[in-house]
Amino acid sequence: MTKGPREPVFHLLLLLLYVRPACLSGQHRHPTRYFGHIAENSPTGTPVDGVLIPLEAGVCSGAELDGNLYGNYPSDFRIVYDSGHREQRGNLFLVSAKPLDREIIAMYELTLELPPMCQRRAAVVQVEVSDRNDNIPQFTSGNKTVEADELAPRGTVLARFDAKDGDADRNGRTTFYASPESSLLHVVPQTGQVRLVGSLLGVSQLTLRLYVKDCGDVALVGEPVFLWVNVRGSSRARRRPRALSEGLTYTVTVSDHNRVGDLVFTVPDQKFEQRWFEVMSEADSPVQIERDSGRLYLARSLLEPAEVVVKIQNLRVMHEQLK
Ligand SMILES: *[C@@H]1O[C@H](CO)[C@@H](O)[C@H](O)[C@H]1NC(C)=O
Repeated sequence: MTKGPREPVFHLLLLLLYVRPACLSGQHRHPTRYFGHIAENSPTGTPVDGVLIPLEAGVCSGAELDGNLYGNYPSDFRIVYDSGHREQRGNLFLVSAKPLDREIIAMYELTLELPPMCQRRAAVVQVEVSDRNDNIPQFTSGNKTVEADELAPRGTVLARFDAKDGDADRNGRTTFYASPESSLLHVVPQTGQVRLVGSLLGVSQLTLRLYVKDCGDVALVGEPVFLWVNVRGSSRARRRPRALSEGLTYTVTVSDHNRVGDLVFTVPDQKFEQRWFEVMSEADSPVQIERDSGRLYLARSLLEPAEVVVKIQNLRVMHEQLK
C-alpha cells in the first residue's frame, strides 16, 4: 500500500489555499475521509462505491474538477459532478478512468482539493480495488517423471507440485487433487505432495493426472500436469530372463552404503541338484561370492551403487548339454 500526502505538508497546502479571510471562518483542520471500493476489471466509468463528497451549495458548478485530484495514480480516476436535486447541494463522486487491476494496485489514497468556495475541507479518499477471481491457478512445474523402488514403504513422498495464483485471499489459495483418483497415490490437497498409499510390488509404471484449483466461490481450475512413476525392481528380486539354458542370472544392485565385508545379497536357492554360484565379469567385481551358498559380500568400498550379475550354474543341465 502507498501512503498519501504527509499531513504537515498537506495542512500547509490548505493554509496557502485558504488565506482569503472570508474563507477562514469555514475552514476545518482535518480533511474528511472517505473509504470506497471498486471491483477490479470493472469497465471504465464505473463509480467508486461509498464515495459521495458534498459540495458547498450551488457555487461550484462551473469549477474545473479534474486536476484537483492528487495522490498515487490519480489519473486512474475521474471526478464527476452530480448536481443533485434542485435546491440541494451538489455532490462529487469518482469513476474509474480505466479497468483497474488489483494485482498492480490494490489500494489508492487520493486527495481532492477544490477551491474553498466549493469545498470546506479537503477530502482524502481511499479506494480499495476488491479482488475478482480472475487468475487461473497454474502449476509452477510441468510434467514429472520419478523413479520409485517397488519396495518403497507406504507414506513415501514421491513428488511434490507447486502452483501460483495471482488473486488475493481465498481466490488465490490453491488446492491440489488427482483426476481420476489413484488407489496407490494420494495427493495432499494443501501441499501438492504425492504420497504412496499402497504397494508397488508387481507394478511397472503409474500415471497420475494432477489438477490445481483455487478456493474462490466459483473455483478456477488450471491446466493439468502428469506424473509418471517408473517402478524399479528392488535389488532383492530382480530377475533377468533366462539367458542360457544352463543357469539363471541375477542382476543385483549393490548400494554404496554397505561397508567392506557386509553381506549384501543371498542368491535364492533354485533347488537344483548340484549347483554353484559365480559372479560374472569377476576380474574387477566389487563383490565376492561364496560359491556354495550364494552369499555375496562387498569386497571393496563403493562410491556409487553398482550392478553385478550373479550366475547360478546348474551341474545337471550342463551334464545334459554335454551328452
Ligand atoms: C504433459 O504431458 C501431456 C500428456 O503427455 C501433454 O499433453 C502435455 O503437453 C505435457 N505438458 C507439458 C508442459 O509438457
